[in-house]
Amino acid sequence: MSDFNINKDRWDSRSLLLIGIIYLLAQSFIYSRTLKMPIIINNKTIIVSSSAQARTVLSAHGYRLTPGDLLDSHGKIVLKGGGRPPMIYLNNQPLQAATTLKRDDKIRYLPGKNIKDKFASRVVAIPFRTKIIGRGDYSSLRRFGAGGKREEVFGEKSGKIIFSKIISYPEPTIIKRLKTAPTKKVALTFDDGPEPPYTEQIINILKERRAPATFFVLGRQVRKYPEILAATAADGFVIGSHTVDHARLDLMDTHSIDLELDISRQLITQNTKIVPTWFRPPYGELNDLVATEAAKYNYKIALWNVDSLDWKAPDPEFIWQQLVPEIKPGAIILMHDGGGDRHNTVAILPRLISYLRENGYEIVSLDELYGK
Ligand code: NI
Repeated sequence: MSDFNINKDRWDSRSLLLIGIIYLLAQSFIYSRTLKMPIIINNKTIIVSSSAQARTVLSAHGYRLTPGDLLDSHGKIVLKGGGRPPMIYLNNQPLQAATTLKRDDKIRYLPGKNIKDKFASRVVAIPFRTKIIGRGDYSSLRRFGAGGKREEVFGEKSGKIIFSKIISYPEPTIIKRLKTAPTKKVALTFDDGPEPPYTEQIINILKERRAPATFFVLGRQVRKYPEILAATAADGFVIGSHTVDHARLDLMDTHSIDLELDISRQLITQNTKIVPTWFRPPYGELNDLVATEAAKYNYKIALWNVDSLDWKAPDPEFIWQQLVPEIKPGAIILMHDGGGDRHNTVAILPRLISYLRENGYEIVSLDELYGK
């Protein structure tokens, strides 16, 4: 029993000592938390608690930590916080995010600034994507995509985009996969050119939409506009002969037919370095003699089976009404880039190409239409 008592007494004195130590530690901790110390902000001495965070102290003393704003030329805020942030140095070093201050630390604070910027706008192209629908080894282009446009307002100094608006959405190219080879093929042909500005306008529309076409040119037009012919050929379009003077070959003798064929072919070859393989007699007038003469030049003869009557069109709608009911697989569509005012032809062409593709027609060259 007495042993037990002795031990108990010993425990009591140890416990007391422990409590005393804990008490002292707690006291010194509380003391340190409430201990004040001087620091300097922009040459002004401030008394802070010893464990204070630099940012907390700055904030508590009215120093703004947020950046200035981005202003337009009238001083109106365009982007809050889009200006220059404040610059804060602790003992001449940039202040780190969480920093506990020490006695006599020196802080230099430069407030954030508003930035005045001049704004400019630009139109940016949005590229289009390609969508492939269906499955199969063959493909048919249903629609050729068109890029979109976005307007951006940006700060000239900051380069920052302040505002952005889509003007037009891009439209994807749509390729339909087919299990069997597409049989709905049509060819586009343009006669009586080259003729400014229509030939170039038509070429641009075709190029944009990747649509092949054949141009049956007149020798007399080639003499006037050789550079347009050269450009047409350089863009990969097929050039065919349509005689020199748009003559009624069926009313001519062998010699005259031969001259028309020979000179028109020479004019094409001189300006394109290409020997034409396609021939279209003016007015589609073909007799045995014309066919025989054309064969001497290894010409393939292309007539047409869908007439746009664009040469007498009072408006694009007239052409549309002519064309659409006539379109069928194997159609050779006749249009004109020369011989008169062709702005209606130019106007209807994008709609025609879209219509053909959306209805499953593949626009091909004459060679492909005829299986070479
Ligand atoms: Ni013609």
